[in-house]
Amino acid sequence: MVYETNSLKETYELARMFVLEELPRLCHIKNQATVVGLFGELGAGKTSFTQGVAKALGVEGDITSPTFVLEKIYKISKKYNRDFERLVHIDAYRLDEPKEILKLGWEELISDPKNLILIEWPERVSSELQKNLIKIKFESMGTDEDKRKIAIECSKKQKK
Ligand SMILES: Nc1ncnc2c1ncn2[C@@H]1O[C@H](COP(=O)(O)OP(=O)(O)OP(=O)(O)O)[C@@H](O)[C@H]1O
Ligand SMILES: [Mg+2]
Repeated sequence: MVYETNSLKETYELARMFVLEELPRLCHIKNQATVVGLFGELGAGKTSFTQGVAKALGVEGDITSPTFVLEKIYKISKKYNRDFERLVHIDAYRLDEPKEILKLGWEELISDPKNLILIEWPERVSSELQKNLIKIKFESMGTDEDKRKIAIECSKKQKK
């Protein structure tokens, strides 16, 4: 599905719809974490989308970009969501090679179905990502600097 948002607020709303309505119906992979790759240029809205997802899952406090720390893990209260216990936010921008992601405990993270993993710059680690990655592509549009095209793709539809 391809969406257009006209503001940061609309991107937050789309993120909310994605995680609360779309994700429970689609895209689950048996016995594995749900992994979402966020594609797009600098400033396209990948971290913003993650903030919207975090808010919708009741994560409190600021969600800032893990550009330097590479990875942040937030606990999700059962009160808000029963599918996931943790939101894992990874920014692969600074990784020099795909294998470096293994140092973040990647194997363990992807083997836990209670993890929802959102990863910025997934193309930097593509060889380590599973084939049925959910892809979200962010693009700026025209001259309006608040407009974004956001395409959500789910290659395989499998029930959990
Ligand atoms: N429709 C929109 N959706 C998302 N962000 C928007 C929108 N309109 C304006 N913005 C602004 O664009 C910026 C997006 O920055 P963000 O950090 O989310 O980008 P990013 O894709 O994570 O970049 P990076 O690759 O540097 O991590 C924010 O400052 C946000 O306020
Ligand atoms: Mg970012």
